This record gives sequence, C-alpha cells and structure tokens, in this order.
Amino acid sequence: MKILMVCLGNICRSPLAEGIMKTKVPEIFLVDSAGTISMHKGEHPDKRAIKTAANHGIDISQQRSRPITKADFENFDKIYCMDTNVFEDVISKAQNEEQRQKVSLFMKVLGDLENSEVPDPYWGEMDDFENVFQLLEKGCSRIAEQVL
Ligand code: 4NP
Repeated sequence: MKILMVCLGNICRSPLAEGIMKTKVPEIFLVDSAGTISMHKGEHPDKRAIKTAANHGIDISQQRSRPITKADFENFDKIYCMDTNVFEDVISKAQNEEQRQKVSLFMKVLGDLENSEVPDPYWGEMDDFENVFQLLEKGCSRIAEQVL
C-alpha cells in the first residue's frame, strides 16, 4: 500500500500527516507527502510543525518539501488532500478516471461533513498546529483501520 498526503506547501499539514501515518502502518507501506505548489521545494517542514510532531515523539525534521508530480498518480494507491482547494487542484492534475479514484479529501475518512478540511495553520499559532495534529491523528488512525 502506498499513501500520499497532499497540502498546499508541503511544509505544515502533509508533513505532519506523513509523520503520523508512518507510526500507524508497517514499514513496507510507502507513506510520502507533497504540495500543490513548489514554492517551498527542498525546504524542511515549518519549525512549528517539527516542534508539534516532536512534542508527540515523532521526528519529521528530515522531510523535504516537494511538489506533486504526474508519476505520483501512478505510483500511489491513495492520495489524501488536506482541504477542498488542494483536492480540486489535485483532481485537475489526474490523467484519467482510475487516477481520480485514488484522490479524496483526508477528512472524509472521519465522516464529518461539517469539518471537511484540515485548516491551514501556516498563518496561525502553535495552538493551531496542535489542533491540526489532533485532526490528523484521528484521520490517520481511521485510514490505518481501513487499509490494514
Ligand atoms: P501547508 O501550509 O499547505 O499545510 O504546508 C502552507 C504552507 C505555505 C503556505 C501556505 C500554507 N504559503 O503560502 O507559503
């Protein structure tokens, strides 16, 4: 099973999702993350994301931001998008129906129609990162239940 987490910059939400998801599935699973923009390409995650993960015993400090590529739609089985804008952007890059089927909104796994997005913490505070961590933790647990 190969799982890709996608957000806008690949420095806040999806690196956290990658780090959390890796703690929940066997090592033979491939878990990676990417962004829809390449502005932060090559950068490590945002310091606040690194700190939030570290507070929960997860090291995401060695990750590097990268934009999503065409090959990702072939290589990965599941592509989870952090919010609606990201979802629409990712869907628009898919080449065919099989690839579109792989793409979903991350929060859909929780079946919560009111909170369908993982809020962007980039302009926020540490509390916002912790809130994102909690949402991702719940969602990743559910994904692990579904795929294991
Ligand atoms: P992310 O957060 O999509 O969760 O990585 C953001 C990172 C960078 C920007 C916006 C959101 N930005 O505007 O540069």
